[in-house]
Amino acid sequence: ERPGVLAGFGDQPLVIAHRGGRGLWPENTLFAFERAAALKVDMLEMDVRRTRDGQLVVLHDPRVDRTTNGNGKVADLTLAEAQALDAGYRWSADGGESHPYRGQGIRIPTFEEVLERFPEQPKVVEIKVPDVGMEEQLCALLDKHEQRERVLVGSFYERSLKRFRKVCPGVATSAGPTSVRLLVALNWVGLGSLVSPSYQALQIPESSGGLQVATDSLMKTALQRGLAVQMWTINEQPAMRHLLDMGANGLITDYPDRALQLLGRS
Ligand code: G3P
Ligand code: CA
Repeated sequence: ERPGVLAGFGDQPLVIAHRGGRGLWPENTLFAFERAAALKVDMLEMDVRRTRDGQLVVLHDPRVDRTTNGNGKVADLTLAEAQALDAGYRWSADGGESHPYRGQGIRIPTFEEVLERFPEQPKVVEIKVPDVGMEEQLCALLDKHEQRERVLVGSFYERSLKRFRKVCPGVATSAGPTSVRLLVALNWVGLGSLVSPSYQALQIPESSGGLQVATDSLMKTALQRGLAVQMWTINEQPAMRHLLDMGANGLITDYPDRALQLLGRS
C-alpha cells in the first residue's frame, strides 16, 4: 500500500508539470504553478534550495543567472535579495527573440508561498541540495500546512532522503539514483523482485550515460513491487505514448498540455 499522496492516484497515469511546465512559462514560479494547476495537471514538480538566511525557496539552479535578471549563487543571497529579482526575465519561446514575461512581477517563490497558494494540489518536491537541517525544515513546513498527504519528496542525495524518511514518516518518497542503480543492477541478475524498498516511486530518465534505464523488466519489477514509475523529462508525444505503453504511470514534462492532450484530458 502506497502512503500519502500516491495512495489517492492508484495506477492512473499522472501528468506532472516539470518545474511547473517550464516549456510553457517561467519555471518554478507561482505564475507557472497557477497555470499548470488551471490545466488540471495531477502534480506540480518543484526544486527547493536555501537562501543565505536559511529560507527554503523554489529554484532549480544553484545560481540565479539562467532564469532571472540577477547573478550569483542563491545561497549567497538573502531571501529579500532573491525575491527582488525578476524570475520571468529570461524565459523565451523563440530562442531569445522575445521575452513576454519580463517586468510582470514574477518572482522566485518561497516553498511556503507555494504551500499557501496550493494547499490541495499534489506536489513533487525535490530537495536539490541538502543542507544541515533542511529535512527537518521541510517537514516542519509540511506539517504547518498539513501537507504530508499532498507531497512526494525526492532527491538525488540518497542520504538526505533517508534522513527525510526518518524525520517525516508517512510522506511518500521517490528513490534517489543510488537506489535506482541498485534496482536496475538487481534486475539484470533477476533479483529485482527481492528488493523491499523504503520508497514508493521511481523517478527515472529513459536512459542515462548511454544506458537504457527504463527497460521492460525494470518497469515490470517496479510495478510488481507497488512502486510508481515516473519518467523525466518527457516532452514529445510519441515518447510519452511509448513509455505509458511500457507501464510508466507518471510523465514529468515541460509540456503538460501535450501529455493531457495525449490522454484525452484537454
Ligand atoms: O524529478 C527529477 C527531475 O526533476 C530531475 O530533473 O529538472 O531537477 O534537473 P531536474
Ligand atoms: Ca527537479
